[in-house]
Amino acid sequence: MKVAQQSFQTIWPSQCCTFVQIIDQTQLPFAFQLLKLHKLAQMIQAIKTMQVRGAPLIGVAAAYGIALAMLEDTSDAGLANAAALLKNSRPTAVNLAWAVNRMVALLQATAPSARIKTAWREAANMATEDIAQNQQIGAHGLTLIQTQIHARQSHVVQPFNILTHCNAGWLATVDYGTALAPVYAAHDAGLNVHVWVDETRPRNQGAALTAWELAQHGVPHTVISDNAGGHLMQQGLVDMVIVGADRVTAHGDVCNKVGTYLKALAAFDNRIPFYAAVPSPTIDWAIVDGKHIEIELRDEDEVHFIQGLAADGTVQSVRLTPLESPAANPAFDVTPARLVTGVITEQGVFCPSEMVKLADILNT
Ligand code: MRU
Repeated sequence: MKVAQQSFQTIWPSQCCTFVQIIDQTQLPFAFQLLKLHKLAQMIQAIKTMQVRGAPLIGVAAAYGIALAMLEDTSDAGLANAAALLKNSRPTAVNLAWAVNRMVALLQATAPSARIKTAWREAANMATEDIAQNQQIGAHGLTLIQTQIHARQSHVVQPFNILTHCNAGWLATVDYGTALAPVYAAHDAGLNVHVWVDETRPRNQGAALTAWELAQHGVPHTVISDNAGGHLMQQGLVDMVIVGADRVTAHGDVCNKVGTYLKALAAFDNRIPFYAAVPSPTIDWAIVDGKHIEIELRDEDEVHFIQGLAADGTVQSVRLTPLESPAANPAFDVTPARLVTGVITEQGVFCPSEMVKLADILNT
């Protein structure tokens, strides 16, 4: 996607495959800064602090983490150590473990002398696959949006309103995004789409990242407080909800950024279609019930403090809560399959009861 007319992806290797470059997402929307990561430890730090984030992107980042680790130590022990450290960096998005397992399986079958080259090539393959999957998700999601627009009376005048939670745009992937891929496809096809952007406390990925990337692409959008979505749905101002996911179970439970469940409940109550847009590496076929997904608990300071632009133009962090009040910070929640209209994947759109069909197509 473009930033100030220049094409960017969220992660890419240096030409000589000695370091990896990322967009530092903790600086957005106020500064666009690139970071060079030379060591495995720097990649792990970037994942933990959410300089890179979003399930598909942390999968590819972990793959490049293994590639960086191979520059330091190509032995079996070095590989096992890097894999364990990366897997522990964030627990909920299954893409991370999926990517590490794929790299480990390939490298275990490769002689140590060839591991550096193989690792960098495979990480690049995974980045390319992610982009292709997201483009397909965009195409399938576009069909859904077109169908809904044509089914209603007022399709010419009224914008088609899509509500999204957190950031599942291009910043959360290598490119194009998952939940926002259909939005970009619809906008680029000339459809009149408008996005309600949940601010997504406590890290504000909606207000900071989704709003920024939609603005860069010229997509009409409005940032709302996390509590406003239900009201907008009751007012008939939401036509569709599309979110991303960190893990979807074999029966279609959707684990995504905390607050997604409440949006799904409100959508269900108002008969608004609720979709999760996910590439197949986000599906965890080993888990059936979303209750068994490990939910990341993050530092309570993310709830106590908020970052923003001060009047003097500097980015500052201010405290919101009484000094003596503790805070809790579960980062994700699970939306049960019964509230999910469909899962938009690169293979098409599947309602939760059709997940078996998807498993067959993917041969899992
Ligand atoms: O904590 P984050 O910012 O990594 O959480 C991101 C989300 O919850 C996204 O919705 C999800 O990873 C899907 S990204 C395509």
